[in-house]
Amino acid sequence: MLAISRAEDIAGDRKENNTMSRKSFGAKPLSYPQPVWIIGTYDENGVPNAMNAAWGGISEENEVSVCLSVNHKTCENFEKTGAFTISMADADHVAGCDYVGMATGTKTADKFARAGFTATKSELVNAPIINELAVCLECRVIEYNKENCILRGEIVNVSVDETALTDGKVDVSKVKPICFDPFNNTYHVVGEKVGDAWGSGRAIDNGQAKQ
Ligand SMILES: Cc1cc2nc3c(=O)[nH]c(=O)nc-3n(C[C@H](O)[C@H](O)[C@H](O)COP(=O)(O)O)c2cc1C
Repeated sequence: MLAISRAEDIAGDRKENNTMSRKSFGAKPLSYPQPVWIIGTYDENGVPNAMNAAWGGISEENEVSVCLSVNHKTCENFEKTGAFTISMADADHVAGCDYVGMATGTKTADKFARAGFTATKSELVNAPIINELAVCLECRVIEYNKENCILRGEIVNVSVDETALTDGKVDVSKVKPICFDPFNNTYHVVGEKVGDAWGSGRAIDNGQAKQ
């Protein structure tokens, strides 16, 4: 009887360990966190446009790469001006930021204003800084490859609205940037601090903690 109970215990333990199964989602562009970048451009007449882009990242010290379908008004614009901006979408402007990912400037000429955005021209590149979004990368086009849809841009400046600073530093609790969850097509605010980069791992490195 005792032996049977022990066997049942072991089987129970195994069952518990086997709960670590995984579900596959296939070869898809699913990653956490995806940025919510709002790409600002001017057309040849100086009319501003904006679009939402989640499939992008920093690819060199002063370079961004974004995967952009060729049919966007945005692409038509930056091919003419050689410039664009990337503003970080934030929690206070979710509707406008999502809207510019649905409407196209090709059909809706006042898309930028409809999104609730106003523009100030960058002093460094021919592209609009979105006044309502605090953090902005001002970029010059390096190359747009229509084969693989990759836009590479040189970051010539990063500017941040003074209202998003605390003691001269960018304050994430004021910026309230959002990220995109591609598993569920939802936006989430970035905020809670859980550690220090190049810091939290030091205890493990020093052999003082396991994780
Ligand atoms: C959350 C989200 C992320 C998006 N990411 C991208 C992207 O990375 N690349 C892309 O080509 N389009 C992306 N889009 C679609 C464009 O934003 C959309 O087609 C937009 O209408 C293009 O605007 P435009 O024609 O005025 O430039 C995204 C849309 C949403 C809502």
